Amino acid sequence: MRTVAEFEAAARERLDPVHYDYFAGGAQDEITVAENESAFKKLRLLPRVLRGSDKRDLSVELLGTSSSMPILVAPTAFHRLAHADGELATARAAARAGTIMIVSMASTTAVEDIAAAAREVTPDPGLWFQLYLQPDLEFTEAIVRRAENAGVKAFVVTVDSPVLGRRERDDRNDFHDLPSGLVVENLRNLELENRSGGNASHVRDIVMSAALNWDHIAWLRSKTKLPVLIKGVLHAEDARLAVHHGVAGIVVSNHGGRQLDTVPATIDVLPEIAAAVGGAIPVLLDGGIRRGTDVVKALALGADAVGVGRPVVWGLAAGGREGVSRVLELLREDFDQALAMCGGRHPADLTPDQVRR
Ligand code: FNR
Repeated sequence: MRTVAEFEAAARERLDPVHYDYFAGGAQDEITVAENESAFKKLRLLPRVLRGSDKRDLSVELLGTSSSMPILVAPTAFHRLAHADGELATARAAARAGTIMIVSMASTTAVEDIAAAAREVTPDPGLWFQLYLQPDLEFTEAIVRRAENAGVKAFVVTVDSPVLGRRERDDRNDFHDLPSGLVVENLRNLELENRSGGNASHVRDIVMSAALNWDHIAWLRSKTKLPVLIKGVLHAEDARLAVHHGVAGIVVSNHGGRQLDTVPATIDVLPEIAAAVGGAIPVLLDGGIRRGTDVVKALALGADAVGVGRPVVWGLAAGGREGVSRVLELLREDFDQALAMCGGRHPADLTPDQVRR
């Protein structure tokens, strides 16, 4: 398999159709799901000539974590629905690729186990942890401590989910709970379980809260020394506020079209957000990245790195760890080739004038 599209087709064949719909789908009419990809297809690249190099360096350093390429694993939930090895396979593949995996709080494997799997591959894996701040701040803090102790290097707070998006495929399929045997392992209350002598499991549901505000970000910053990013910024004013509130980085994201439908493609709002941030903090982007040329376009328009969500899930479903490795390597090769043809040696060489509408 040579393309993300081929991996998606293979994954679709293997997956329970209900689970395929969960991974592939988005909110309501899925206008934004489609737009994320089609917006990249509308952009044209303008290469520079006679200034490249045989020796290209794709590596980037993001908030103290180095990555072998500017293509990260975006946080996606429930990997054990895609493959029995679940997040362990994803973590090993990301570690082998030398890239950053943003572990979803909604993973079906505990963050400690994910970190241990990554450490089997490399002594110092680049793991970040995605958080949905829970209204019970004490419980949130316990999760923060667990993730820190497991060795994550940054927190990524998802801020585009004051309520859960309306996923109509899941409604139609009546898919609202994990099958028995699978739970959101990071939401286990270990203290309660210990107190019951391990006889009862105490796993909370993730609570989305519309009451979250900048004070909660300040609260989290007061509870951890690690960098705190926010994920799900689409408005330039919020990007400015993020800088003002001391956020370490932002992820321009519409949750892969799974939250508010009819928001713009992330690549279409990136230029105004990059302008608002003005280089003060790193800007990441996810949504619709399927090709090396998509990565080039995002970096040229101001992103420091991109995340891939569904492509990783398709690799996992199609072939476990090997599948995820293959997806990451094909994106790396595709990006390297496109970078070379654009006359770049390094991701930072790409400039906005190289993208045309
Ligand atoms: C997600 N995403 C997501 N984001 C997050 O912050 N926490 C999460 O638990 C999840 N879970 C999740 C599950 C599935 C199945 C998908 C497809 C996505 C959003 C994800 O981080 C990212 O924003 C998008 O997936 C990026 O778009 P692409 O690459 O899938 O087009």
